[in-house]
Amino acid sequence: RKKVTIHSLYQSKANGTPISMLTAYDYPTAVACSSHPVDITLVGDSLAQVCLGYPSTTHLSVAEMIHHTRAVARGTTHPLLIADMPFGSYHTGIEDALRNAVRMVQDGHVEGVKMEGGQELTEIVRRLSSVGIPVMAHVGLLPQRHIAMSGYKVQGRDRNSAKRILADALALQEAGAFSIVLEAIPKELGKYITEKLQIPTIGIGAGPHTDGQVLVWDDMMGTWNGHKAKFVRRFANAKHERDSGVEAYCEAVKSRSFPDENTESYSLDKNEWAQFL
Ligand code: KIV
Ligand code: NA
Repeated sequence: RKKVTIHSLYQSKANGTPISMLTAYDYPTAVACSSHPVDITLVGDSLAQVCLGYPSTTHLSVAEMIHHTRAVARGTTHPLLIADMPFGSYHTGIEDALRNAVRMVQDGHVEGVKMEGGQELTEIVRRLSSVGIPVMAHVGLLPQRHIAMSGYKVQGRDRNSAKRILADALALQEAGAFSIVLEAIPKELGKYITEKLQIPTIGIGAGPHTDGQVLVWDDMMGTWNGHKAKFVRRFANAKHERDSGVEAYCEAVKSRSFPDENTESYSLDKNEWAQFL
């Protein structure tokens, strides 16, 4: 497959070819994404919850993120590789944001970074873009601000909130963001922002009219037990397969039916064995 570039993503938007983005947190998942027409592999900070067991994304450190992005990078071929800037890594000043983004690229082997927020991020987006670090913006529901936002709620449902999200998206595009995630907003707003922006929009819970879609791997595969949001579709039931595999393994060990004496065991030459004894 041809390497996905920012240029090819712009062409996809122009042609009306939907962009597929999927999260990955480790090497085998990255290989799976690379074996299919996934355009963008995202090491989302959803890593914190679905992979590391933290209660929210705000617990994830840059070092933890980089440990995973390196593994994903080893398995990534054609997809564009983007990772989330962890909470706190871009909030303490432009120089800190730049330093952490450089770490993500240089140590983490990612090709671009994603960050949550609106107009308050434009200076940071401008700075990173100006030195050649591609930035994907993220507006609407911002999981890193779940406490301040009093939970994980649909955003932009009234006209003032919708106007603010549109203004944020336009400002982030103007600052140099190459693409933008729209999370949990009404489908009408998802369509309107997509038409207003020149950069590709990637929706999650933003309706069918965005330039692309993204889902969290574990939501999509059905390996995640937590809350299932309205916008999640389970494309597989890997949890069922996984659980029956663990169950069958334990049963086979405890009943001594595994390993099989003949087909799953090595044997010693009879003469050798006689000498050994
Ligand atoms: O962390 C994540 O997985 C994300 C996507 C769902 C957009 O930010
Ligand atoms: Na995220």
